[in-house]
Amino acid sequence: ALVPDLSGVRVLITAGGTREPLDPVRYLGNRSSGRQGFEIASVAAARGAQVSLIAANVELPTPAGAELVRVETAEQLRQATHAAAKDADVVIMAAAVADFRPVTTVEHKIKKSEAAPEPVELVGNPDILVELVAARDAGEFAAVVVGFAAETGDQTGDVLSHGRAKLARKGCDLLVVNAVGAGRAFGQSDNAAIILDRDGRETEVPFGPKALVAAAVCDAVVSRLNR
Ligand code: C5P
Repeated sequence: ALVPDLSGVRVLITAGGTREPLDPVRYLGNRSSGRQGFEIASVAAARGAQVSLIAANVELPTPAGAELVRVETAEQLRQATHAAAKDADVVIMAAAVADFRPVTTVEHKIKKSEAAPEPVELVGNPDILVELVAARDAGEFAAVVVGFAAETGDQTGDVLSHGRAKLARKGCDLLVVNAVGAGRAFGQSDNAAIILDRDGRETEVPFGPKALVAAAVCDAVVSRLNR
């Protein structure tokens, strides 16, 4: 039987991938399906958590017991996440957020022209995870903050050292590091991860169903909550 070790804990999860519009029909996006975030939502709810999901462009059934808000762009995800974080005990940032967005969104569909196409000018999006950690550290709310890192390094050592550096840079409590690329993780039902805790603990989750990674993420969250 499942242990209700997240009973009454308010868990906010972002999932999916943001889309940054170029015109009414085109966007810059990424390959995130939202599966890993939705699995975490299912597992956390089954373990007793009160789950809120912020889903960016996810085409999956809503996990039982989760409350769902849909967003499209990084800015919408940002607004929704900041608003909801105030009522959360745990924030899990599983969404793949676009690092850049087009400077302008053209009002009408961009025409195929005879001339060379206009270059797309991009501007950086704020790092929501870094903003959340800053707000938490400033005392605006108290929550365990979990980040994700999709790394494409081909050697495990690579992935790990990038992960450790990212954990320090982002200032979150836990970082879930995945190796992506070449058909791995994005859109698949299986995943492997290394969960880094800021106290130095590292948990390796071997390649397997995303539900197993989700369970390991919940275990790491429980151990942070019980500190
Ligand atoms: O730096 P990188 O994009 O690899 O970091 C990934 C983590 O940061 C994820 O948890 C993601 O949700 C979060 N992130 C964010 N805002 C951004 C970019 C990434 O919150 N603009």
